[in-house]
Amino acid sequence: MPAQIIDGKAFAQNLRAKIGKHVAKNFAEKGWRPSLAVIQVGENPASSVYVKNKVKQTEECGMESLEFKMPADTSQATLLQKIDELNNDSNVDGILVQLPLPKQIDESAVINYINPQKDVDGFHTINVGRLNNGAGQALIPCTPYGCLLLLQDFLGDLSGKDAVIVGRSNIVGKPMAQLLLGANATVTIAHSKSRDLPAICRRADIVVAAVGRPEMVKGEWIKEGACVIDVGINRIETPEGKTKLVGDVEFASASARAAGITPVPGGVGPMTIAMLLHNTVIAAHLLRGETPPTF
Ligand code: GUN
Repeated sequence: MPAQIIDGKAFAQNLRAKIGKHVAKNFAEKGWRPSLAVIQVGENPASSVYVKNKVKQTEECGMESLEFKMPADTSQATLLQKIDELNNDSNVDGILVQLPLPKQIDESAVINYINPQKDVDGFHTINVGRLNNGAGQALIPCTPYGCLLLLQDFLGDLSGKDAVIVGRSNIVGKPMAQLLLGANATVTIAHSKSRDLPAICRRADIVVAAVGRPEMVKGEWIKEGACVIDVGINRIETPEGKTKLVGDVEFASASARAAGITPVPGGVGPMTIAMLLHNTVIAAHLLRGETPPTF
């Protein structure tokens, strides 16, 4: 039987609708709206598309959106100064600096300069530490958090499941591992130096592919009945000379074996921005000393 398609687009839409309702009710009762500031340095075309979508969806949910575009030759000191302003602005609840940053800027220094309570990406060392320790009040990286919700929606309890994550990035692979551990899965992180990747994947009940290489994970590596979450978004050329988006997983052959699989586009991608809006609402309540809502 072909795999069920895990519809991240619909899940994200539903979540955004719930967030929008909460924001409207909160404004009616308390007179404030969560506010998200997004900084883009330079004109990376993929970043410009992401930032435009973030701003649009933030506004559609009834939140305040602030956008700062800085030139590609911005110095690190100038960027840190802007972050300092936003850290100290009580009208700003979430701060996101779009990555990648130009070469002259140290990404880690910038991320760790953001007030961890406003770090809606969840990349600050304090939030990474809180996630790893299972301590409360961590802001959790958006893409893996979205993957976790899709997995729990499809599979229910993840206790005892064998999960293999292909890719060890700070943005997806490592936080995904912590989230799956927190959900009591048995977790393996595989990467470019792993031996016999096909065999590692074949024993997995859950495969999360986050390597950024088009169709690298082959259908025959997928166990019958496994659940496949494809984080990759890669633009490739077709034999007809056009381009199309594909994931990190060979979709057709993998969906012949899996029980559930996320498509590209329309799977994990829409979840990332929905979780960013979610994190902004959580941050806004925590900053005011309030118990955050659950959606
Ligand atoms: N670039 C690619 N993904 C992300 C993300 O989740 N957050 C930020 N800030 N930049 C990114």
